[in-house]
Amino acid sequence: MNAKGGSAAGVEPTKLLVVLHGVNLNLLGERSPKHYGTLTLPELEESLRAEAARHGWACACHQTNHEGDFVELIHRYRRRATAMIVNPGAWTHYSYAIHDALELVDGPLAEVHLSAVEQRESWRRVSVVSDVADVRVWGKGETGYHQAFHLLIEAVERAQGEKA
Ligand code: DQA
Repeated sequence: MNAKGGSAAGVEPTKLLVVLHGVNLNLLGERSPKHYGTLTLPELEESLRAEAARHGWACACHQTNHEGDFVELIHRYRRRATAMIVNPGAWTHYSYAIHDALELVDGPLAEVHLSAVEQRESWRRVSVVSDVADVRVWGKGETGYHQAFHLLIEAVERAQGEKA
């Protein structure tokens, strides 16, 4: 098996989408519905698992309120994930530790925010991770994650085409 979960000779490797949520995102559904909607995190993760399965992908979802644990999750999946979606929550705006960890991710990476971060407080308009993301989607709620996933699929297919 290769580093990204692929295997040799003729067997179609399972692609893995990794979705990582950061601080306070466990409270989706009750937290500021005006910005984040009413969907809970388990519901959002379930919809992503279902969408991944429709495309023949596996999907691993995690959430933590601890920055070091978020970094550890990135390390755990940085080579194994075919593609990764992260919503680091407030860490987006200041965590160089998360930036540096994300820089080590092999596959294409999407930074997603449920709310319209670019139209909220000035500090939310700053992202210290965006320069390492291949895709950035904000302000589209759940739809934004699906959009990001489709863009990541295209990126993976492009990279495979380039290799062939
Ligand atoms: C968020 C936006 C961040 O500014 C905020 O701190 C969050 C969620 C979003 O999904 O819109 O926790 O990342």
